[in-house]
Amino acid sequence: MRKERTPIIAANWKMHNGPQQACSYIQALLSALPQAKRCGIVLCLPYVDLAAAAPLLRDTRMALGAQNLHWAPQGAYTGEISASMLTQLEVRYVIVGHSERRRLFGESDQDVNQKLRAALDAGLRPILCVGEDLEQRQLGAAMELIAYQLKTALSGVSAQELRQVIIAYEPIWAIGTGVSATPEQAGEVCTGIRQAIQQLYGAPAAQSVIIQYGGSMNEGNAAQLLSQEDIDGGLIGTASLDLDKFLSIVQTANQLCLEQQA
Ligand code: 13P
Repeated sequence: MRKERTPIIAANWKMHNGPQQACSYIQALLSALPQAKRCGIVLCLPYVDLAAAAPLLRDTRMALGAQNLHWAPQGAYTGEISASMLTQLEVRYVIVGHSERRRLFGESDQDVNQKLRAALDAGLRPILCVGEDLEQRQLGAAMELIAYQLKTALSGVSAQELRQVIIAYEPIWAIGTGVSATPEQAGEVCTGIRQAIQQLYGAPAAQSVIIQYGGSMNEGNAAQLLSQEDIDGGLIGTASLDLDKFLSIVQTANQLCLEQQA
C-alpha cells in the first residue's frame, strides 16, 4: 500500500451467518475497533443479513456491502436482487464477478460488465473481482487473462466512474485453500493490474485506483501482503468469519497506514 491510497479491508462472508449471527458479530466488532479511522472497512454480507445489519452500521466507521446483484432495475427475474433494492438497505458496496459466481453460476465477462454498470448507475461502489486459475497461471497466461477481464468488465465505464470501482485480485487457486499467493506473486499481479488500468485510463486514474488482494489472506500473512506497494487492502473470506482474525487484519492495515504517515 502507499500513503496516497486509503486501504480497504473487506469481509466476504459468502454463504455463512444469518441475521442474528451478523448482528452479534457487528456489535462485537464495533466495540473492539479502535476509535481512529485509518483503513476503510466493508462487510459484504448475505442478502438476508442486510436489513438487520444496516442500522447497526449507520454512522460507524464500517460500510455495508452485498455479494452480488442483478443488472436489471426490476423485472421477472425470480430470486434476483436489483441495485436499487440494495441501496434502499443502505448498502454502499457490492462484489461483482467473484470467481465463485463466474464458475459455479456461469457468469460471463459480459454479465460482469452489466452488473458493474448497474452498480455504478445506482451509486454503489463495485468490488470487481478478477483472477486466474492454476492452469492459466502455469501456462503463463494469468496477466493476459486478467487484462481481458478488466477490459471487458470496465467497458463503457468512464474515468470519473472508475474512481468508484475497487479491483480485487483473487487468484482462484488461493481461494479457500489456505494457500495464499506469496506477497511477491500477489504484488506482481497487482502491479500488472495497475499498469492495465493505466493503459485504459491513464496514469492518474491508475495511481488512485484501490486494488485489493484476496485468497487465503489471514492474520498471519496480511502484513506481508499489504506491504506490497500495489496492494491496497484485502477481500477476506474464511478469516473474516472469525472476529478475532478479521480484527487482527484490520489492525495490521491500520498499523501499516500509521507507519506510512510517520
Ligand atoms: P478466502 O479468504 O476464504 O480464501 O476467500 C477469499 C475470497 O474469495 C474473498 O472474496
